[in-house]
Amino acid sequence: MTHAHQRLLIIDFGSQVTQLIARRLRELSVYCEIHPYNRVDEAFLKNFAPKAVIFSGGPSSVFATGAPMPPTGVFDLGVPILGICYGQQVMMHCLGGKVERGHGTAEFGRAYVTPKDAKLPLLDGWFDEGREQVWMSHGDHVSKIAPGFEVYGTSPNAPFAITADVSRSFYAVQFHPEVHHTPKGAKLYENFVRLAGFIGDWTMASYKDDAIEKIRAQVGDKRVICGLSGGVDSSVAAILIHEAIGDQLTCVFVDHGLLRLNEAEEVVTMFRDNYNIPLVHADEADLFLGALEGVSDPEVKRKTIGKLFIDVFQREANKIEGAEFLAQGTLYPDVIESVSFSGGPSVTIKSHHNVGGLPEKMGLKLVEPLRELFKDEVRALGRELGLPDKFIGRHPFPGPGLAIRCPGEITREKLDILRQADAVYIDQIRKHGLYDEIWQAFAAILPLKTVGVMGDGRTYDYALSLRAVTSVDGMTADYYPFTHDFLGETATRIINEVQGVNRVMYDVTSKPPGTIEME
Ligand code: XMP
Repeated sequence: MTHAHQRLLIIDFGSQVTQLIARRLRELSVYCEIHPYNRVDEAFLKNFAPKAVIFSGGPSSVFATGAPMPPTGVFDLGVPILGICYGQQVMMHCLGGKVERGHGTAEFGRAYVTPKDAKLPLLDGWFDEGREQVWMSHGDHVSKIAPGFEVYGTSPNAPFAITADVSRSFYAVQFHPEVHHTPKGAKLYENFVRLAGFIGDWTMASYKDDAIEKIRAQVGDKRVICGLSGGVDSSVAAILIHEAIGDQLTCVFVDHGLLRLNEAEEVVTMFRDNYNIPLVHADEADLFLGALEGVSDPEVKRKTIGKLFIDVFQREANKIEGAEFLAQGTLYPDVIESVSFSGGPSVTIKSHHNVGGLPEKMGLKLVEPLRELFKDEVRALGRELGLPDKFIGRHPFPGPGLAIRCPGEITREKLDILRQADAVYIDQIRKHGLYDEIWQAFAAILPLKTVGVMGDGRTYDYALSLRAVTSVDGMTADYYPFTHDFLGETATRIINEVQGVNRVMYDVTSKPPGTIEME
């Protein structure tokens, strides 16, 4: 089987950090895929034709009944294999070594590995300081290495921390090189792929060309519809599909009246004027805001918006004759989660999640051209497709929009104030060169009026809360430490420039215990 790129196969034994292995490899321009151990058999291996294989870590013990095992034939492929943590143990177990239960030798957290023979090419650049910090997380440990293997590094509780059978190119380490707490871990992966003969042919330019070919082959002469949110993922998906099939793509942008200042115009201009992509702009502010009148419960707000969104999208999509496909910006982390053997939701539920079951209801097939990419790779692809940096680097914006930044009842007056205040706040952040340092920043309007004094008069206006967080994935977050000068200047600007606000506060809650959004 020939493939467009050299491919590396990661066999997943259930570690929490398997995705990080893929990240480290993609950073080295190596194409890799993660597959659960129980979905990989000999036929799969033959078809996948990996140039190297990595066994991930995992929570199991090789002694457990039904313990995860590598697929038959993997050791006979004649390609380099790297085993990590459980991956090491299972490798030793299969090849004639011995694994023992923890009993006093478990190791969790930071440890130091010292060299036994630093000449192993896998360890080029390691041990300059005599020992190297690594991250351990194991209960069981290898007590006897398999025939043909030698020891190249030890830690106090892992006498076989780094082992290798150089003649067969089998490498096995007890620690996790993919995590940040193993500072030279990336170097170890770099050495591994180099000695496996990878040339680093996974580039965004080549990905783009392949993806365009695939979309053409999948869609033929049929039509595709794509829901646009103005976010990066759906925009990149739409522009890529447009490059592939031109006017066979129609985008639908549902404006629910809860967007930021000028957002609808920016999205519509970019797609219609800059890219000439057919775009239906459904201006449904009255519909959404009407339905939200008097609603202050956060869950009712979300459900109302979600349901109306689907109704409008479906109505608009029905008008597009001959549409057989629905495009979605599903990313690789969603795909990995959905195929996880350890209880992730099924593929169907997950991949349809974004549009609430629409594809089945409407009899549409999915086009998901980003399903092999991580978020930062989507941004790189966006750049490759010529999207402006300003657009690509935009902070995330939630589907329910300003509704969840307006706790309590939503009114048009409050939304107008919020839009203007948010624009001033973001302008301040950009002017101070902080936008890219911050993961997400926004203003929220509080359900609260306070007394102030402006000029010689009394004011009774809304209070605003500003939020800015740093985060990696939005799951946890910390507040951004603005200087007092910045905060003071921003509060002054907002109160001077936005009528209806007389008080500004800065939210210093982390997540947890807070969430990023107000609701
Ligand atoms: P929370 O508030 O849960 O937000 O800490 C985490 C991240 O998710 C975004 N978010 C949403 N995104 N639809 C979305 O597309 C939603 O319903 C939604 N709710 C929250 C939020 O902006 C933050 O980036």
